[in-house]
Amino acid sequence: MTKYIIVSGGVISGIGKGVIASSTGLLLKTTGLKVTAIKIDPYMNIDAGTMRPQEHGEVYVLNDGGEVDLDLGNYERYLNVTLSRDNNITTGKIYREVIEKERKGDYLGKTVQIVPHVTNEIQDWIERVSKIPVDETGEEPDICIVELGGTVGDIESAPFVEAMRQFQFRVGHDNFALIHVSLVPDMHGEQKTKPTQTTIHSLRGLGLLPDLIACRLLVPQPLRPDTKSKISMFCHVAPEQVFGVHDVSSVYHVPLLLQSQGIVEFLTKRLNLGNVKITKEMSDRGRSLSERWRAMTSGSERAFDTVNIVLVGKYTDLKDSYMSVTKSLEHSAFRVNRKLNWVESSDLEPEAQREHPLRYHDAWRAVVGAGGILVPGGFGNRGIEGMLLAIKHARENNKPYLGICLGFQLAVIEWARNKMNIPDATSTEFDQNTKSPAIIFMPEISKTHMGGTMRLGLRPTVFQQGTETWSKARKLYGGAGKIWERHRHRYEVNPDWVEKLSASGLSFVGKDEKGERMQVLELHDHPFFMGLQAHPEFCTRPLNPSPSFLGLVAAAAGSDLLQEQMMYQLKHFVPPHPEDAMVSEAELRNGQPVAYGKDQVLVNGSADSEN
Ligand SMILES: *[C@@H]1O[C@H](CO)[C@@H](O)[C@H](O)[C@H]1NC(C)=O
Ligand SMILES: *[C@@H]1O[C@H](CO)[C@@H](O)[C@H](O)[C@H]1NC(C)=O
Repeated sequence: MTKYIIVSGGVISGIGKGVIASSTGLLLKTTGLKVTAIKIDPYMNIDAGTMRPQEHGEVYVLNDGGEVDLDLGNYERYLNVTLSRDNNITTGKIYREVIEKERKGDYLGKTVQIVPHVTNEIQDWIERVSKIPVDETGEEPDICIVELGGTVGDIESAPFVEAMRQFQFRVGHDNFALIHVSLVPDMHGEQKTKPTQTTIHSLRGLGLLPDLIACRLLVPQPLRPDTKSKISMFCHVAPEQVFGVHDVSSVYHVPLLLQSQGIVEFLTKRLNLGNVKITKEMSDRGRSLSERWRAMTSGSERAFDTVNIVLVGKYTDLKDSYMSVTKSLEHSAFRVNRKLNWVESSDLEPEAQREHPLRYHDAWRAVVGAGGILVPGGFGNRGIEGMLLAIKHARENNKPYLGICLGFQLAVIEWARNKMNIPDATSTEFDQNTKSPAIIFMPEISKTHMGGTMRLGLRPTVFQQGTETWSKARKLYGGAGKIWERHRHRYEVNPDWVEKLSASGLSFVGKDEKGERMQVLELHDHPFFMGLQAHPEFCTRPLNPSPSFLGLVAAAAGSDLLQEQMMYQLKHFVPPHPEDAMVSEAELRNGQPVAYGKDQVLVNGSADSEN
């Protein structure tokens, strides 16, 4: 029987419910349990692919091509699991199911209502998805963390809260625990409990009892004992059910903070976890996870040398637009024992010099002073010329460079313009009628839908013959002949250009299985110059950083560090995907993709990144 831990929120959203939920999952994993996670978003949207990243933060891509938001990324990274698009429930998805059933006559002509039809659908969905294996064991998870987006009391979340109220009886008391995350404002040193009292009151009114109250303090001071007893008294829970979560130096410390307050012991008792069978192998694995996590967090505190990376993108007010990219950098910095200092830089084009001379100057100073330069995937084509200049700077000055998706394509364009003397080389994405299309529109042809679709989800890349002797990318990926990363793009290097690009010295070390699509590029005589058409940032893990980012960060910290990491990776790299996700097209069953998920129909004018 799966055990469910619901994480709800009160007072305001955006206070770190996701981090508390994933930290709890991680702690349970260290005891040897198998943990999965579901995120409920009370929105009407059906997938995040059509949402604008400027408004919403990054669009995160799953193995099955599901386009979701960044919270599922949190779970994949903390729990080292592989989730599917069904792990994200939205109001829109639930309503679509209910309406489809109604159309098929499944409800036998009854009146279809929020209670019980929508609430039943929610419960069925959670039960079904919680049983899907998500890790290397291929077994049903023991624990499912369900994060309820929004705050309790919202109109939007009402059907979900009601569904959870019913769910506690469906699965039974021993299999259902609720963590409610609340805000404890700190006013000039005084910790206020009123908002927490109010939100717990409304929670109880809706029929849900908190097992744990996680009190978020948005300051570095911990929850005081007297505040704790006050909350315990006024919210009618025992003091050991009240947890404080103050601001800590990094989110990776949150699991330790929760552990020190006894969350594992509490949940073990409350959910009767002693009765769950844990094999010796799983408990050893859990123990080693716990040790490595501790070593990582304490190591990062002791790191004092800094590595400077400049991310050449577009200033967006939303820090989250590059969430996975910055996580990948962070994980890599942990590995090489450096403090990460990354800055974003835009306004590098000559026009910016006239319009914003100061910004232009600062931006170039950052680029010139950086240890490594990163051009991530992008949206829109503003700032392209500036990025090309930054790439040229990296290439000519032997500065470590990593290009992701758009950054890969621009590295090709920069090469064509400046090394091959084709000054008008560009992408048909920027100029449809160009005479020098280095990058062209090349969607994947779908077997089930008319026309082309976006290349989306986990795809293999094959390292070319001869690369084993010199390719840094290949070494960083453990020397494997075939690697797997997630894709999200429609444009590719023009196949007609590949020969001349390669002949002039740009090496495409990794291609798709048919050899038609260029997927990894490298320069032979450069300390570190690499581009990937895929989005490796979606598969980074705190203890297993994405190889390409690790290469960039290590190279930026010094060439001996890069050597050291390549040696380490050759011995120890393990891909973060379960075996059965890495099934190649040649091994398709009945012509249907096994791990590739449902096809995505090409939507014209979809909101963003489609390089
Ligand atoms: C789930 O999908 C909805 C709709 O696209 C999106 O708004 C939400 O952010 C997604 N949540 C997660 C955790 O992926
Ligand atoms: C992470 O997951 C992958 C694939 O499921 C597995 O091979 C690997 O051993 C896991 N890593 C850790 C540190 O548990």
